[in-house]
Amino acid sequence: DTWPKDVGILELEVYFPAQYVDQTDLEKYNNVEAGKYTVGLGQTQMGFCSVQEDINSLCLTVVQRLMERTQLPWDSVGRLEVGTETIIDKSKAVKTVLMELFQDSGNTDIEGIDTTNACYGGTASLFNAANWMESSYWDGRYALVVCGDIAVYPNGNARPTGGAGAVAMLIGPNAPLALEQGLRGTHMENAYDFYKPNLASEYPLVDGKLSIQCYLRALDRCYASYRRKIQNQWKQDGIDRPFTLDDIQYMIFHTPFCKMVQKSLARLMLSDFLSSSNDTQNTSYKGLEAFRNLKLEETYTNKDVDKALLKASLEMFNKKTRASLYLSTHNGNMYTSSLYGCLASLLAHHSAQDLAGSRIGAFSYGSGLAASLFSFRVSQNASPGSPLEKLVSSVSDLPKRLASRKRMSPEEFTEVMNQREQFYHKANFSPPGDTNNLFPGTWYLERVDEMHRRKYARRP
Ligand code: HMG
Repeated sequence: DTWPKDVGILELEVYFPAQYVDQTDLEKYNNVEAGKYTVGLGQTQMGFCSVQEDINSLCLTVVQRLMERTQLPWDSVGRLEVGTETIIDKSKAVKTVLMELFQDSGNTDIEGIDTTNACYGGTASLFNAANWMESSYWDGRYALVVCGDIAVYPNGNARPTGGAGAVAMLIGPNAPLALEQGLRGTHMENAYDFYKPNLASEYPLVDGKLSIQCYLRALDRCYASYRRKIQNQWKQDGIDRPFTLDDIQYMIFHTPFCKMVQKSLARLMLSDFLSSSNDTQNTSYKGLEAFRNLKLEETYTNKDVDKALLKASLEMFNKKTRASLYLSTHNGNMYTSSLYGCLASLLAHHSAQDLAGSRIGAFSYGSGLAASLFSFRVSQNASPGSPLEKLVSSVSDLPKRLASRKRMSPEEFTEVMNQREQFYHKANFSPPGDTNNLFPGTWYLERVDEMHRRKYARRP
């Protein structure tokens, strides 16, 4: 009981590229049926980086923005963790590059390095930071969790599910978004659904259909163990009833594409339904009666179940999840930062009063695979100037910032992808491009010397 109270997220900063390609333009350009990306995948726009940006520059920008906005002294940070799968060096951590920002402060006593497993690294970093804070090694300072990725695919059906971005989170006690202690449902297994064995290329190998099944199976398993753990906690408090989605006011997910998330929430409803007793007269399960005797793992590719579930869960989706997809539908998959971008979107679309006292469920998935379902408890205090109110208002300009990006044609997007291929892992070059295409204050790659040492500069 000497633990600090309510360890969690105090502040949150989001970075995404200043340029995007429209998904309707991409549908035409790729000669696919209208609606395939926009309706079938639920994607509106996709952000992308030029060759002037890499994972280091993305993370430099998002950390600098967070520290400047909050005006925290650089020596108030005692741990810095980076979650990413955008690896440009097999040894040197992105974290070491971020130490550059701390140089003038003289603060070098900062634990933490990079963590990698596909999209799960950000969540692992968050867990590491919270674990540190609840341990004997904690020295009273804040932790910073940084996650970011550049999600790019070769020409083909996976390309429209790309994106790029980074999120930085300030972790500390008495947080407006406190991690709920003891409540992590985790599922890990060995799968080859999405992986990056090709060191000569930025692109992953992906078995799209398998990856969707792996994601859904991991979701089922994590939900089951989360439910078991919370019910056990309740029992100790004398409460004996099943946990259902009614006990979660908002639910966010790792978002490879938005349609996947709508189906995922629907799936949690199926889990609730299948574990509810036969005599339940719960009207929210209307339309699902025919599936009473199905087993969860038999339903991954059942289109009838899909359709009935989407219908039965629509109202719940609109209430608990839809708002969290704003950044994802406009920017695409940000891998490790996707889930935390969803959190920012959720905050940007609700008032502090709406959120106060609620539970936010969070499902993190990384291919390969590693997954956890956990939750945040939102503080009760939403008064003006409270940490919750400040956090919510700090992300409220997200829609405005997204609207200020530059729309590029599919031809220009393809040209940039070709340039990224050409410069990938090259030495001795200065990336071409116009820094005016970056948001003011953005860090960018200025030069890679003949020894692969990278030099960064900041756009005024
Ligand atoms: P595809 O071949 O384009 O898929 O690949 P499709 O033909 O099945 O179409 C997709 C949906 O669009 C279908 O909906 C179609 O019916 C619909 P569904 O039947 O499944 O509900 N559709 C249309 N709808 C309206 N109007 C139309 C139309 N045409 C078709 N005209 C796939 C899609 C996602 C597989 C591909 O893009 C891909 O491989 N993406 C990358 C992998 C991925 O995102 N996987 C997701 C789970 S794994 C994960 O999340 C981890 C990840 O983030 C990596 C990490 O962990 O680091 C990816």
